[in-house]
Amino acid sequence: MIISVIGCGYLGAVHAASMASLGHDVIGIDVDARRVEKLARGEAPFFEPGLDELLTATIATGRLRFSHDMADIAAAQVHFLAVGTPQSESGAADLRYVDAAVAAAIPYLGPGTLLVGKSTVPVGTADRLAALVAPTGAALAWNPEFLREGHAIQDTLSPDRIVYGVADGDGTTVGILDAVYADALARGVSRLVTDLRTAELVKVAANAFLATKISFINAMAEIAEKVDADVVALADAIGRDDRIGRRFLNAGVGFGGGCLPKDIRGFIARSEEVGAGEATAFLREVDRINLRRRDRIVELLAEELGELQGARIAVLGIAFKPESDDVRDSPAIDVIGRLHAAGADVVATDPRAIEAARRAHPELVVEYAATAREAMSDAGAVVLLTEWTEFRELDPVEERAVVRTPLMIDGRNVLDRERWIAAGWRVRALGRGSGAASR
Ligand code: UGA
Repeated sequence: MIISVIGCGYLGAVHAASMASLGHDVIGIDVDARRVEKLARGEAPFFEPGLDELLTATIATGRLRFSHDMADIAAAQVHFLAVGTPQSESGAADLRYVDAAVAAAIPYLGPGTLLVGKSTVPVGTADRLAALVAPTGAALAWNPEFLREGHAIQDTLSPDRIVYGVADGDGTTVGILDAVYADALARGVSRLVTDLRTAELVKVAANAFLATKISFINAMAEIAEKVDADVVALADAIGRDDRIGRRFLNAGVGFGGGCLPKDIRGFIARSEEVGAGEATAFLREVDRINLRRRDRIVELLAEELGELQGARIAVLGIAFKPESDDVRDSPAIDVIGRLHAAGADVVATDPRAIEAARRAHPELVVEYAATAREAMSDAGAVVLLTEWTEFRELDPVEERAVVRTPLMIDGRNVLDRERWIAAGWRVRALGRGSGAASR
């Protein structure tokens, strides 16, 4: 099948390469000429494990091309819309890229073609776009994407489920999408067909649930801190209940990235617009709990050091999660800013995200170090904010020799506390009580 993917950011670039790897002929379109050039050379514009290799391999087969000319979609039967929907000032999703892409694509749509939305949009957007597309004779479907950064290719090729939102009784569209996803369906991936509005909601509801789960455990962490209990043991215990499940119960500095924070805010805004604001009011608290964790890191440091003014603090991890160079709404960026505002000298390191942080946050006053060792040299405290394997595997005995004060704030609850304490460190972690540090 000939497929176009309109918008080659995180979602689109991965989708284009993955569809080509399944044997489809794919043209990826993006308005950013530099991004198109990079992709055409087989280079992803961001770090995602395995993506450069997949791009290179699929480009070499001749089945994957990139262009910034929308006219190049003309030969495709299925067009995936994968442009970004950033947060606007009000918190609502900004649909300007969606609207511009659809307007630009319309001249190339016709009977028998299908426009498939993948972007995360406020419920009701697909109905509006379907009306715009209808005069061309093309159909419109919504097919939300659930990929996680760092696992994007696997999540695209072997998702937990595939959701098609289609207009009432549109069996033709279902048949076309089945042909696109024939490989996954043959391997038993489940497929749910819904109306357009439900498909749009599935995506934001899933992210809202995940964000709520994380904030739930972080709220328990706040309580655990007050009463000197241990949130990690608590998560292990409640997670044994199959109805609850242990995944996404990792307490720490909280969620960031380009999806969960903006999606819950967009969901709140859209719920209010449709007269159901009360239904998502709890998501405001989810957001607040999440942001409070960032304050708590700074508070913990202040509790331990007494004075942040002039303290040299090493921050391990800048990306919003490991295996990613994405610093969008990263807790670490926020914490670095707050530490600087409190007068600390911050030196930060990350295996992948330093360049992205420099580009996206030129305002940050921070020294970047190439390695954890360099960042920790002479530090008065160390804060772990992204759980990269290389930070989890640091040797507390060796690292003790380089720091000025062996104080570790484990912002992700991933270090083996006993080992670090045995090596002479004082360890504080989120949701693990204050006395635990010296037990
Ligand atoms: C998230 C969803 O997990 C995907 O299903 C969805 O497709 C994607 O958003 C999207 O909308 O495009 P992603 O943003 O890549 O994926 O990252 P997650 O793995 O969900 O992690 C989000 C944040 O939550 C990270 O900052 C992570 O450190 C944090 N987190 C995660 C916790 O603090 N605790 C946990 O237990 C799990």
